[in-house]
Amino acid sequence: MDCVVVSLGGSILVPGERDVEHFSGLAALMRSLAKEYHLVLVCGGGKVARYYISTGRELGAPREKLDEMGIEATRLNARLLQIALGNDAADSLPRTVDEAVREARKGRILVMGGTSPGHTTDAVAAMVALRLGAARIVNATSVDAAYSTDPRKHADAERYSRLTHKQLFHLVDKGLHSAGPSDVFDRAGAEVAMRANIPIYIVNGRDLGEVGAAVRGEKIKGTVVAD
Ligand code: UTP
Repeated sequence: MDCVVVSLGGSILVPGERDVEHFSGLAALMRSLAKEYHLVLVCGGGKVARYYISTGRELGAPREKLDEMGIEATRLNARLLQIALGNDAADSLPRTVDEAVREARKGRILVMGGTSPGHTTDAVAAMVALRLGAARIVNATSVDAAYSTDPRKHADAERYSRLTHKQLFHLVDKGLHSAGPSDVFDRAGAEVAMRANIPIYIVNGRDLGEVGAAVRGEKIKGTVVAD
């Protein structure tokens, strides 16, 4: 059975409205996909993480402390998804990539959040995918594809249906220095996926049909990153 690691962006996982309905729908989809794939679901921190990080920053906390609060927020979101999945989810909520690797092949859907300071959950997804030899990474995010620039600000932004890993890396690297498309994938994660040549499927995480197609490696409306 192939392993697929899904990075669920916090803002699509817990948008702040009709969350119960969304969690239930997502859990039903993942339950059906788990019949065909070993799934690891890595949850982002969303609004809750942003609130703690920005408030802590104003209070003068150092970067590492802010990241630690972000990680706690991702773990809270992971708990909600675990609850929605009930017995189909593994009981443990790994704190490290090593722990995730140990737990992942035990049969049930593995849900986790962040691990250590200095990166985001996209990077965690890539590191877990590398260690498990995953067939692909699915980035279920708040944008519907990768664009040359932020499509919300630039009407002429070019939409990509396909990118090489190198092209994705340059795109997110550029995003660090200008107002680029930061939601597409985290830079450290893009680098891990590039080195290990793991395909990344970037899809709108609110569109469960897209998320399902991406996990199965079928045609998507979003972006496929592969060499
Ligand atoms: P997210 O993975 O949600 O980051 O982690 P993000 O990309 O900023 O948020 P979305 O995807 O747009 O919603 C939230 C924060 O938690 C810390 C980082 O500070 C990150 O920005 N974090 C998370 C870590 O330090 N390490 C981790 O492994 C995960």
